Amino acid sequence: MTTDRVKNPQLRSRIMDAEDAAAMIHSGDTVGMSGFTGSGYPKALPQALACRIEEAHAAGDAFRIRLWTGASTGPELDGALSKADAIEYRLPYNSDPVGRDKINRGEIDYLDMHLSHVAPMVREGFFGKLDTAVIEVTAVNEDGSFVPATSVGNNRSWIDHADKVILEVNSWHDERLEGMHDIYYGTALPPNRVPIPMLAPDDRIGQPTFQCDPDKVAGIILTDLPDRNAPFSAINETSRTISGHLMEFFEHEVKMGRLTDRLLPLQSGVGNVANAVLDGLKDAPFHDLQSYTEVLQDGMLDLLDCGKMAAVSATALSLSPEAAQRFRDNLETYRDKVILRPTEISNHPEVIRRLGCIAMNGMIEADIYGNVNSALVMGSRIMNGIGGSGDFARNAYISVFVSPSVAKGGAISTIVPQASHVDHITQDVQVIVTEQGLADLRGLAPRKRAETIIRNCAHPDFRPLLEDYFERAKRDAFGLQTPSLPRESLSWHQRYIDTGSMLP
Ligand code: COA
Repeated sequence: MTTDRVKNPQLRSRIMDAEDAAAMIHSGDTVGMSGFTGSGYPKALPQALACRIEEAHAAGDAFRIRLWTGASTGPELDGALSKADAIEYRLPYNSDPVGRDKINRGEIDYLDMHLSHVAPMVREGFFGKLDTAVIEVTAVNEDGSFVPATSVGNNRSWIDHADKVILEVNSWHDERLEGMHDIYYGTALPPNRVPIPMLAPDDRIGQPTFQCDPDKVAGIILTDLPDRNAPFSAINETSRTISGHLMEFFEHEVKMGRLTDRLLPLQSGVGNVANAVLDGLKDAPFHDLQSYTEVLQDGMLDLLDCGKMAAVSATALSLSPEAAQRFRDNLETYRDKVILRPTEISNHPEVIRRLGCIAMNGMIEADIYGNVNSALVMGSRIMNGIGGSGDFARNAYISVFVSPSVAKGGAISTIVPQASHVDHITQDVQVIVTEQGLADLRGLAPRKRAETIIRNCAHPDFRPLLEDYFERAKRDAFGLQTPSLPRESLSWHQRYIDTGSMLP
């Protein structure tokens, strides 16, 4: 490890080891760490802190922190701290399996929130004081500014808001990342807010680095450690069919004059299915695509590589290890095509609405009226969280949700009489796609929405059950605007909890 990446002499004197830096964090502190979908998260300090906390617990001392990040991180951060029982409170998004189990056992308080809300709410003071920011960066420049790494997330706000800042300067990150970021400092709090001056996904409105008062930098740790994103599962027949339905829909929209063959800026959510949908664009008759999205996944990188995609704006890379290596090997070719921004801007409702994004997100389930649950299995067990899907779904030109029609080997229908939890209300959901087909819900009133979703999206094993429920609901419901039978509408979920299958 070399000190060359810390070019500012004053800051070079703050280099220390991870254990000494971790000693500056105390029980009860609120810590804002970098990291977004397995990219750009600190790796050395969280592990040193986890060891320290385990020792404190072994000695009978209570020691837990409140942890804020950009989104999910990696095993060295969420994994290590969760294992050490070090987290009392967590926001705004987690996909770590150990953390997920502890959240579902009620051992961690988890605030699952719209990602675009996090930075402004912190600056508005709604969540109280931030004691320490721990931020992974690529380098520290001569002038004391920081070169961001593979994610931007909430780093700007953590650096601004925290009492002190600890940096991990990770020489695994390619120095040529400098210049790929666009850090916007023009956001103000009401009543002084002004429009975000972004008119196209590839506009640059900020600066390439983070600024910070050098006196706030309490420590710098040098590392050389890879990001550890999980691989995507292989694209299967189901995902390919879902993607095919969506491509046909887009072609129809072009024919009707509601889209051009450049489509509109694409947003694609986290997860295997959303990633697989992008694959279909490689062979579809669209070109010069642009993306205004939260994360750049493998599917998006493939589109850049084959020349279909001209530009991507995101807040983080969310690449499999293979694609991350490809990104590093060919970084020069992506430098003028990829822009990484603060999440507050990548997910900004005003910009998403102005650009007219096409939002494509995965879901856990949808009900027959098109309310979507993205986060809670059986209404109570967290999978990951809403993430940025709400930022995009509500403000998109067209908001699409995708999922296989069944989960867990056919035991669960993802189309249900009533969603067991709702993240996206029916008004924010315009298109639902499963491998069975596509339901275009635009302009349809609730009963027509139900007919369309059941007919086009439900799996044949569950379709007759949904038809039967809907017919009886139309006969017996208290009201016929959205006919439902409250005593029965969540019985499918209860049956799964009781028997392991939603089928009677
Ligand atoms: N009930 C129970 N489990 C379900 C389910 C359901 N209705 N639907 C999916 N699952 C399970 C799958 O079985 C799978 O479990 P496994 O990991 O044990 O195999 C897991 O959820 C992932 O499902 P998969 O079909 O592979 O889809 P995915 O990887 O595309 O993920 C979501 C789907 C909903 C979990 C994912 O899209 C997500 O977290 N979305 C919310 C956040 C978001 O949209 N962010 C975008 C921001 S820009």
